[in-house]
Amino acid sequence: MDIRPARPADSGQIAAIWYEGWRDGHLGHVPDALLPYRTHESFVERAAGRIADTAVGVVDDEVAGFVMVVDDEVKQVYVSARHRGTGSAGALLAEAERLVAAHGHDRAWLAVATGNVRARRFYERQGWTANGEFDYPAYTDEGPIHVRCLRYEKPVNSSF
Ligand SMILES: CC(C)(COP(=O)(O)OP(=O)(O)OC[C@H]1O[C@@H](n2cnc3c(N)ncnc32)[C@H](O)[C@@H]1OP(=O)(O)O)[C@@H](O)C(=O)NCCC(=O)NCCS
Repeated sequence: MDIRPARPADSGQIAAIWYEGWRDGHLGHVPDALLPYRTHESFVERAAGRIADTAVGVVDDEVAGFVMVVDDEVKQVYVSARHRGTGSAGALLAEAERLVAAHGHDRAWLAVATGNVRARRFYERQGWTANGEFDYPAYTDEGPIHVRCLRYEKPVNSSF
């Protein structure tokens, strides 16, 4: 898998992985009130608007997964269903950690829905540590909907 900055032409594939993966990781773990806002179209719009914050993993000319990083926050880590369990996710998360460090931070953080245990186990295997629960304001057009989340953190090397 090659990892590179996302390009506008990737946004359709990113949106498809994001939509399916969001449902895999979040249905049953977020308030039902959020579901009408998380349509496929909503992910198409959000993916296109966040290309500058996105790195993609590419296998055989197809996007296999992506991460989004803003400042010291790893905002999204998603791998398509057929690339799960292959190590792709770990490579993408390592790239996200590198980007946080490159932004000048020595500690990265991310939020994960408390019920998303597969993702939590994945982060813990990658050396991340849970550091308390909080309500994450999930964006919608009509204001935030709060999702119970865990904050995970990991020191990153900012010396380069
Ligand atoms: C979270 C995610 C990036 C981790 O990537 P991954 O490749 O699945 O990571 P791992 O290889 O460490 O596998 C994680 C678990 O999923 C299991 N798994 C592997 N391949 C799978 C597949 N094709 N389908 C379902 N589960 C799979 C693994 O056995 C492992 O289970 P375990 O924790 O009980 O041992 C990925 O599962 C994903 O994209 N999930 C949906 C989106 C999401 O929730 N993102 C995080 C938001 S905070």
